[in-house]
This record gives sequence, C-alpha cells and structure tokens, in this order.
Amino acid sequence: MRKRGAVITLSLVMGSLTLYGVAFAHGTEKHGKMVPADAQMKKLHAMMPMFSLASAGMETALEKGDMAVLGTEAEKITTAIPDLKKSKPHKNIKQREKYVEHVTNLEKMVIATVSLAKNGDFAEAKVTFKKVEEACAACHAKFRG
Ligand code: HEC
Repeated sequence: MRKRGAVITLSLVMGSLTLYGVAFAHGTEKHGKMVPADAQMKKLHAMMPMFSLASAGMETALEKGDMAVLGTEAEKITTAIPDLKKSKPHKNIKQREKYVEHVTNLEKMVIATVSLAKNGDFAEAKVTFKKVEEACAACHAKFRG
C-alpha cells in the first residue's frame, strides 16, 4: 500500500510537470523551455518593440524640431527604465552590474538628447541621439541572444 501511495504521488508530480511543460511550450518563444523564472525575460521581449518605436519617434521629432513629440517619445523610454533594469537578458545573464550599466547609459543619453533640444541646440541633440542608438546596440552586442 505504501509503495502504491508513492507511485501515485510520483505520477501526480509528473503530471503537473507535464502540464507545466505544455503551458509554457506555446507562444512564439523560440528560446527553448520557459519556466516562471523566465517571466522577466518575457517581459523584456515584450518591451523592446516599444523601445524601437519610441526611439524612431525621437529621431523623427528631432528632424522636425518637434519638442512636444520628442518629450513624449523620450518619456516612453525613461518610464520603462526601472523595468528594463529588472529585466533579464538571455545571454551573459550573470553580468547584472554590466547590464544595469547599459540601462543607465541609455537613460542618460535619452535625457541628454531631450535637454539639449530643450535648450534649442538641435544639432547637438542629434549628435547625442546617435549615442542613444549606440546604447541600444552596445547592450544588444553583449546581452541579446
Ligand atoms: C540593457 C540592455 C538593452 C538595452 C539598453 C536595449 N535593449 Fe533591446 N534588447 C535587449 C535584449 C537582451 C534583447 C533580446 C530580448 C529577447 O530576445 O527576448 C533585445 C531585443 C530587442 C529587439 C528585438 C525584439 C526582441 O524582443 O527580441 C529590438 C527591436 C530592440 N531590442 C530594440 C531596442 C532599442 C531601439 C533600444 C534603445 C532605445 C534597446 N533595444 C535598448 C537588451 C537591451
């Protein structure tokens, strides 16, 4: 009887593991198995397209000299900074400090771009915006799988 109990328990455990596997197997994830600990990775994946749109929006606004749009687009990025800091990349996952440094650098460059534009220095703001793009690329080079 005891042995049978153990078998039942084991099969329950296996059953829930299987469910688990199924639950996380769908979706568009192409990075292999997903477990709840990867929620932060999923979040990052979901955030990045917004970063793309917002930085493209900043670039257009700079070309047009449109301060209002520049501000709104930049704010989309700066508002997401705390979440980006908490997010987890797929690659070089242990190098958290470095990761957070990349986030901080992005934030600084976005803020610098906006404040230069606010002061009317659009030429310098455009130069600094290139550093925003470099900040995206630098993090991708190291942490994007
Ligand atoms: C601190 C690191 C970091 C910064 C800064 C960063 N990214 Fe990413 N980005 C990543 C990682 C890691 C991935 C891969 C995520 C994944 O595959 O789930 C990624 C993926 C992407 C993708 C592909 C979509 C995806 O989820 O795979 C786009 C587009 C993107 N980033 C745009 C940007 C833009 C634009 C900026 C700058 C405004 C930026 N990123 C800044 C880490 C960063």
